[in-house]
Amino acid sequence: ITDTDEKAFTETIAKDQRVEPRDWMPEGYRRTMIRQIAQHAHSEIIGMQPEGEWITRAPSLRRKAILLAKVQDEAGHGLYLYSAAETLGADRGDLTRRLIEGRQKYSSIFNYPTLSFADVGVIGWLVDGAAICNQVPLCRSSYGPYARAMIRICKEESFHQRQGYELLMTMMRGTPAQREMVQDAVNRWWWPSLMMFGPPDDQSPNSAQSMAWKIKRHSNDELRQRFVDMSVPQAEALGVTLPDPELRWNDERGHWDFGPIDWSELKRVISGDGPCNALRIENRRRADEEGAWVREAAAAHARRRQEAGA
Ligand code: 3HC
Repeated sequence: ITDTDEKAFTETIAKDQRVEPRDWMPEGYRRTMIRQIAQHAHSEIIGMQPEGEWITRAPSLRRKAILLAKVQDEAGHGLYLYSAAETLGADRGDLTRRLIEGRQKYSSIFNYPTLSFADVGVIGWLVDGAAICNQVPLCRSSYGPYARAMIRICKEESFHQRQGYELLMTMMRGTPAQREMVQDAVNRWWWPSLMMFGPPDDQSPNSAQSMAWKIKRHSNDELRQRFVDMSVPQAEALGVTLPDPELRWNDERGHWDFGPIDWSELKRVISGDGPCNALRIENRRRADEEGAWVREAAAAHARRRQEAGA
C-alpha cells in the first residue's frame, strides 16, 4: 500500500464520507466489518425462528398475513446483509458454516422462547424497537454498502415495530386473560431486550476501534438509554408495567434511571447456554443441509445458461 492509500482512507473517515468496496482499507477494518455485518445477518436469519413458530397458530388471517410479511422481511434483511458482507470478500456459505459451528455469533435475544401470541407483539414492540435504536445510527456507518442496507432495513423495521405495538393495543383492550398474556410477555422480554445493545461500555472490547472508524456512531450504553427513554412512555400508553422497580425519571440527567442488568445472563446466552440456543442452531443446520440441493440446482442452471451464452 502507499501512503496516499492510508491518507485517503483516514481522510474519508475524518470527513464522514463512505468507504466503498474498491477503496483501500486497513485489514482490521475489513475484518471487523465482516464480523459485524455477518453477525447482523445471522441475527436476522435466526430471528425468523421465534416468531415463525406462530405463523401456523396466528389467531386470524390478518395476523397471519402480517406475521408472514414480517418474517419474510427478516429473511430479506439477512440476504441483503450477506450481500454487503460479500462486497468485503466474504463467502455466504462460509459465513453460514461459521454460524452453525459456533464460530460466529447472532443476537442473544433470539435464544428466548415465544410462549404465547403476545410474544409476537412484544418482539415487534421491544425487540424491533431496540433494533431500530441500534440500526438508525448504522445508516451513517462509514462502510457504504452496510450503511445503504441499513436505510432500507430501517424503513421495514418501523412497520415491524408498529404492527407489534398495534397487536398489543388490541390485546390490552381484550379479556383480562389477554392482558395478563401481554404483561407476562413484557416481563420475559424486557431485560433481554436491554442486553441486545451489548455489554456496558467499559466491558466492550470492540467499541473504541469501531467508534474511531465511525462504524459505531453511539456507544452501547448510549443506545440502551435511548431505548429505555423511548419505551417507558410507550409502556404507560399500553397499560403494562416494565419489570424494573428501580425505573424512575431523573430530572438532572433528563433520562430514565433503570436497575442493574444481569450481565452474567448475557455472557451465558452469548456462549451458547441460553434457553433455545441448541434448537436455533439445529434448525439452521438442518435447513442448510436440506436446502443444499436447491443451491446446487440453481448453480448448475446458472452455469448452463452461461455456457449457452445467455
Ligand atoms: N448478542 C450476541 N453477541 C453480542 C451481543 C448480543 N446481544 N452484544 C455483544 N455481543 C458480542 C459482540 O459481537 C462481541 O463479540 P465478537 O467480537 O466475537 O463479535 C462481544 O459481544 C463484545 O461486544 P462489543 O460491544 O465489543 O461488540 P460490538 O462493538 O460489535 O457491539 C453490537 C455489539 C452493538 C451488537 C454491534 O455489533 C452492532 O451494532 N451490530 C449490528 C446490529 C446487530 O447485529 N443487531 C442484532 C439485533 S437483531 C436485529 O437487528 C434483527 C431485527 O430484525 C430484530
